[in-house]
Amino acid sequence: MQLTDKFGRKISYLRLAVTDRCNLRCQYCMPAHGIDIVQRKELLTYKEMYRITRVLSELGVNKVRLTGGEPFVRKDFMNFLKSLSFNNKLDQINITTNGALISKHINELEELKINAINLSIDSLQKEKFAKITRRDVFLEVYKTFELLEQSNLNLKLNVVVQSGFNTDEILDFVELSKNKDISVRFIEEMPFNGKGQRVMEDEWNFNKILNHIKNKYPEVEQLSSSKSSTSVNYRVPNYKGNFGIIPAFTRTICNDCNRIRITATGMFKNCLFDGGVFNVRDFIRNGASDNELKELFIKTVHHKPENGFIAEASRGNNVSESMSTIGG
Ligand code: 5AD
Ligand code: SF4
Repeated sequence: MQLTDKFGRKISYLRLAVTDRCNLRCQYCMPAHGIDIVQRKELLTYKEMYRITRVLSELGVNKVRLTGGEPFVRKDFMNFLKSLSFNNKLDQINITTNGALISKHINELEELKINAINLSIDSLQKEKFAKITRRDVFLEVYKTFELLEQSNLNLKLNVVVQSGFNTDEILDFVELSKNKDISVRFIEEMPFNGKGQRVMEDEWNFNKILNHIKNKYPEVEQLSSSKSSTSVNYRVPNYKGNFGIIPAFTRTICNDCNRIRITATGMFKNCLFDGGVFNVRDFIRNGASDNELKELFIKTVHHKPENGFIAEASRGNNVSESMSTIGG
């Protein structure tokens, strides 16, 4: 049994939010006072997350990304990682993190064979970093960055391109890939900040970001990337690392989507832009068997919307919740 949708897309990648809480307050993600976090009992337990992942892995999911909120904010997250790593049907376990709490865990992450860490770092300047995240943790995050770079974990840097905040650093980030074997990924900002659309001076979409980079580096070459990659990837010739652009908002990658999401409260999402299809947590807490879970997943994935625009149109309200609730 496999998870396939009616457009023939095979689902093999789960993005699981382990918490809706976060220790930072990034402007593009939440208002300064934070979001209304849910009560603890509404969060999936680790046991529930383990079970959901195992059932999905028996249906062909072989890659899991743990995200949030900030995964490392949740107590015992390292133990959860350890138990997940025993699931031999998973080829890849990846983590998206803001890096402020993980410098002490890096050796253990290496031992657990975590594949890749996506580190969110939107500025290389201490003051600006503090302005964007509303917390003064740049030095700690940069320390994590250097430790990760020296580790054997694959490292990707997530840079949300924010008009009026960090577009003047796009080229600095490209330059960072000169001597470091990293992949910098520029992400189009989406209006998921817990309070609706943010005022943007300019729309920094995929093409604008690429043209801006090509202006300085006309020689950039496109790299081939895996079919379901979320980013289109490039390299400045002879640079050790590379960079990519993620059309998160213009959504030109939906054709090859292989992803589903489960939020911290157990909401199953076929698409980042849909409003949530059903709550797996309630289904489990009402006593569902593994087979019933499998049937539900198969049936639901079949109706995965063709793309993010259709998903957004069918949800009937505006996308306004925080990425921390949605699950990055
Ligand atoms: N637009 C684009 N990306 C976002 N992220 C969070 N909120 C947004 C947004 N509004 C990304 C961050 C982080 C990941 C969890 O999600 O880059 O790396
Ligand atoms: Fe936290 Fe990530 Fe949201 Fe920033 S983007 S506030 S680091 S969940």
